[in-house]
Amino acid sequence: MSNPIITFVGAGNMAASLIGGLRAQGVPASAIRASEPGSEQRNRLQREHGIATFSDNAEAIKGADLIVLAVKPQIMKAVCLDLAAHLASNQVIISIAAGISCASLESWLGERPVVRCMPNTPALLRQGVSGLFANPRVSAEQKAQAEQVLSAVGLALWLDNEAQIDAVTAVSGSGPAYFFLLIEAMTEAGEQLGLPRETAARLSIQTALGAARMASESDVDASELRRRVTSPNGTTEAAINTFQAGGFEALVQQALNAAANRSAELAEQLGQ
Ligand SMILES: NC(=O)c1ccc[n+]([C@@H]2O[C@H](COP(=O)([O-])OP(=O)(O)OC[C@H]3O[C@@H](n4cnc5c(N)ncnc54)[C@H](OP(=O)(O)O)[C@@H]3O)[C@@H](O)[C@H]2O)c1
Repeated sequence: MSNPIITFVGAGNMAASLIGGLRAQGVPASAIRASEPGSEQRNRLQREHGIATFSDNAEAIKGADLIVLAVKPQIMKAVCLDLAAHLASNQVIISIAAGISCASLESWLGERPVVRCMPNTPALLRQGVSGLFANPRVSAEQKAQAEQVLSAVGLALWLDNEAQIDAVTAVSGSGPAYFFLLIEAMTEAGEQLGLPRETAARLSIQTALGAARMASESDVDASELRRRVTSPNGTTEAAINTFQAGGFEALVQQALNAAANRSAELAEQLGQ
């Protein structure tokens, strides 16, 4: 099977990562195009990845199989309304914009195959995770092609219904910041305990990385890993008991509820 032609509309940080990931997976430069108003960014993409770049979105999508919409959510409506008249019926739209629903995209672009994705920032290091939802017009082959694009920057997981995108936003979309907050707090606490700040920061960061790798590579779940490192009456237990006495799990639930609600609210506003 020949490579599908993929056009990125908007080629900022996220699109550049996806393009880098696809090239690293062996997708030829001839199968990738990008459309972007900034000439500096277009030159960079040409230089680094050898792909064709365009300043005109309509020109860039001609003959493409997959169109990845990677502009900011605030300008998505205007970009879609401009593209609508130039689309062919078999072209698949992949949107990575936060808070733009399939219904909004179809109201701007007409009824067509749409895949809505929620990636996260570690995608910039190809360590991301994305939730993907496909509307019923997307074929199995097109789903596989969309999955290949998102898996170029990390793990890609399919969702059963679009409402789950708000939960994905709450867990992994906003999630990197929760871990940064924990790293900040642990660094602060380590310093208070007498460590040089730099040492406390490096200990915290490397611990987060090591714990994430253990959780990711182990065949038991996180709660079992935690039990295994928590000896009765030990130091870890003293800390965990303190977290739990402060309502840690309930606080995490409240925080993620707030993020999911905000995600639904933003989708409502951006879809107008
Ligand atoms: N970064 C993340 O971690 C992340 C995570 C989840 C979802 N997303 C989603 O990914 C999308 C892109 O985010 P990003 O971080 O890559 O943003 P970004 O770096 O600002 O990229 C957007 C690009 O679109 C270009 N652009 C502006 N107007 C355009 C138009 N009319 N036609 C074509 N291109 C146009 C911008 O060019 P100028 O700069 O010249 O205006 C910019 O290069 C957003 O919708 C965001 O919600 C990002």
